[in-house]
This record gives sequence, C-alpha cells and structure tokens, in this order.
Amino acid sequence: MKKNKLATLEDLYVHELKDIYNAEKQLTKALPKLAKAASSQQLKTAFEEHLEETQNQISRLDQIFERLGQRSTSTDKCDAMEGLIKEGDKFIKEEAAPAVHDAGLIVGAQKVEHYEIAAYGSLCTFAEILNFEDDLNLLKENLSEEEAADEKLSQLAESGINEAAEVGAQRDFD
Ligand SMILES: [Fe+2]
Repeated sequence: MKKNKLATLEDLYVHELKDIYNAEKQLTKALPKLAKAASSQQLKTAFEEHLEETQNQISRLDQIFERLGQRSTSTDKCDAMEGLIKEGDKFIKEEAAPAVHDAGLIVGAQKVEHYEIAAYGSLCTFAEILNFEDDLNLLKENLSEEEAADEKLSQLAESGINEAAEVGAQRDFD
C-alpha cells in the first residue's frame, strides 16, 4: 500500500477500502485458475460462482468510491492477497491425488475468505461509526457473500472432499 498520511478514521477507512478493492481485483484473476485446477465439479462451480460475486463486490466498492470522490489506483497493492495468491499458485502445481489436491485448494481459498471477512468486518464497523449508511449496506452485502462462500467451502470439504482425500492418502501409503 502507498504511504498516505492518515489523520482521521475516515482516512483509515479509505485506506482499507483501497486495500480490499485491490485484493478483490487480484482475486478475479486467481479464481479462474482455481476453478481450472479443481477436480470436483462442485468445487469448480463454487469458484466460478464466487468469481461472479467478486465482480459484483467490486461494483459495490466502485459505488462507495464514487460517493467518497476517491478512487483506487494500481499503487494501492494488497500485499497480503498477493502472498495468498502466490501460495495458491504454488499449491496448484503440487502433485497430489485429485481429492487431496482439492482439499488443499479449499484451504487456500478459505485463507483468502478469512482475510476478506476480517477486512469487511472492520470496514462495516468504520462505516457505522462514520454514519455512512449507504456504504454500510453495500459493505454488509460483501461481508455476507464472503461468509457464505467460506461456509460453502467448509460444506464441500466436510461433504466428501476431505474424506476422499483421506482415502486417497491411505491408498498412497498401502
Ligand atoms: Fe470478495
């Protein structure tokens, strides 16, 4: 992130908005790679659906920037998301049994979701304190989509991918 002088909570709010905006932008490039790498059709679909949601989340953030008279620039890079995506890219190339590979993709994606949940949670708190009602509604929509995406990934892991991964792992040890 670019170094700005942060004097007020609103400055910090804008700073964090720029961070998550850039994080979402990076994610739109990473999600298609995750969808391609997934073996389970359900997991592929989950990544594809989250890509669509991510695009809507970016439009909501655009609305907020427009209202604030601010815009995010390419210098506002989210280093954390870059790191998470780099780890994901590295994992995609790992050789693993298909179910084990899918379980690993889920771990990586959930790390991303948790980062975003933390970011939107804080942004909602700031918007509430600053009395930015419209922003708060938009940010809450993003937050609940991230929570739902995280929950969906947990369900997929619990509903068989981890179990299949365990069987796969046992076979490898036989
Ligand atoms: Fe997102």
